Amino acid sequence: MKIDSENLKKLENLPDPETCIREVRNWLADRSEPPKAYLHVFGCQLNVAEGEKLAGILQSIGYVMTDAIQNADLILYHTCAVRENAEDRVFGTLGSIKKLKQDNPELILCVTGCMTAQAHIADKISESYRYVDIVLGTSPANRLAQMLYAYMQGIRHAQDITVQTEIPEYPGIVRNSRYKASVPIMYGCNNFCTYCIVPYVRGRERSRKPGDILTEVRELIQSGYKEIMFLGQNVNSYGKDLKNQITFPELLREIDKIPGEYWIRFMSSHPKDATPELMDCLLECEHVAKHLHLPVQSGSDEILKRMNRNYTIEKYLSQVDYIRQKDPEFSLTTDLIVGFPDESREDFEATLELVRKVRYDNMYSFIYSKRAGTKAASMPDGISDSEKSARMQELLALQREISITNHKRFIGKILTVLCDGESRKHPGIMTGRSSENILVEFPGDSDLIGQFVRIRITDSRSSCVTGNLI
Ligand code: SAM
Ligand code: SF4
Ligand code: F3S
Repeated sequence: MKIDSENLKKLENLPDPETCIREVRNWLADRSEPPKAYLHVFGCQLNVAEGEKLAGILQSIGYVMTDAIQNADLILYHTCAVRENAEDRVFGTLGSIKKLKQDNPELILCVTGCMTAQAHIADKISESYRYVDIVLGTSPANRLAQMLYAYMQGIRHAQDITVQTEIPEYPGIVRNSRYKASVPIMYGCNNFCTYCIVPYVRGRERSRKPGDILTEVRELIQSGYKEIMFLGQNVNSYGKDLKNQITFPELLREIDKIPGEYWIRFMSSHPKDATPELMDCLLECEHVAKHLHLPVQSGSDEILKRMNRNYTIEKYLSQVDYIRQKDPEFSLTTDLIVGFPDESREDFEATLELVRKVRYDNMYSFIYSKRAGTKAASMPDGISDSEKSARMQELLALQREISITNHKRFIGKILTVLCDGESRKHPGIMTGRSSENILVEFPGDSDLIGQFVRIRITDSRSSCVTGNLI
């Protein structure tokens, strides 16, 4: 059900977010106990970081966050659209909570994020999932309080999926961890890789001001954070849209000057813009973790061209050579897509060949998923699903073999590890990641969580290395 024109006008003339926060807080204050909000985030780390802002706004309004969906007064799903199965999961979830809304008509149901930023999905929700009250697109933190204010004024099924281009700074971020923090440094993407929905839903590249990033990182380090993860769809183009231009390697070097015991990681780094200056930062900066995630997507030049990736395998390998000549064991990981439209056996063989050459420590591989509105969606595709799945299995088997061999290089060495939890399967075994982003398991106790520890590596498997505290 679309909202009528009178309500639409009201939506356009809402008070500013601060006023809305105040008004909604007063409206909720009558209740005998504080209202509860349940938030579930689908998708990538950028979405998780956005979720931390959404939780901050909900708390400033007066909500208490809950893990118990049945008791929630507000449910918010922050969604992803990168592959079809991500969207299927959200529709499945929405179906499963219909009963909650029927049992409690006062329950406020919001859906936000990359999936709902697509007009055809927002329409489908307002037509087929009419019990959803609020639909927002990407950067929903900018609009959430206003939409709740509109709800308070009686407006239901409100939608605003315009891309929010301002980058307000949020003081009230509710961080999921006390020692690892995600810091988005830019939003949007200009690259239009032909398979990818992200530029359509997140808009063009917008960089945060370096001063704001520095302030946030300084505060995080002062309050004991040990790992800062810089996020952006292509961090290598950070700063290109700012007046006082600053490059990503320059930003890294500025941050590296902040004293303290911490690591900086970042993702993603597009190979078309990965420069020797970036590699030098990785090798030289004390606080920059010794790991580079360099998503290649395919080992075939023909496929890369049709993906609009703007680099060749020769150029990619020259970047790998640059860093590996200076550090032959430098840890690299990647993203790969299997079964891009009409990917031939030869194209796939070229991917296997590249993986054998680079010897990644790990990879994230995905079967191509057709995304409505992207260029690749209209490309002919004669490759069957079963062939695509078989290729994926072949690629995974190759990577497993490589990971087993690669991990052996750490046996006998001492790795600094940021301990981040206890193994679910093996109580008493702690887990963490080394600077190289290698998963490390070791006996220890939960006091170590959030601390750097030194581990002598004694053994390795395909998924991790194991050792003992020293
Ligand atoms: N900006 C990052 C980059 O360029 O590397 C990638 C961000 S994207 C959200 C994460 C990964 O999802 C991509 O690297 C790609 O491998 C994969 N991906 C994106 N669109 C896809 C699609 N339509 N089908 C399968 N995998 C896809
Ligand atoms: Fe998608 Fe390409 Fe942008 Fe990454 S760089 S978000 S893969 S369009
Ligand atoms: Fe991230 Fe998914 Fe959007 S991967 S950028 S939440 S489409």
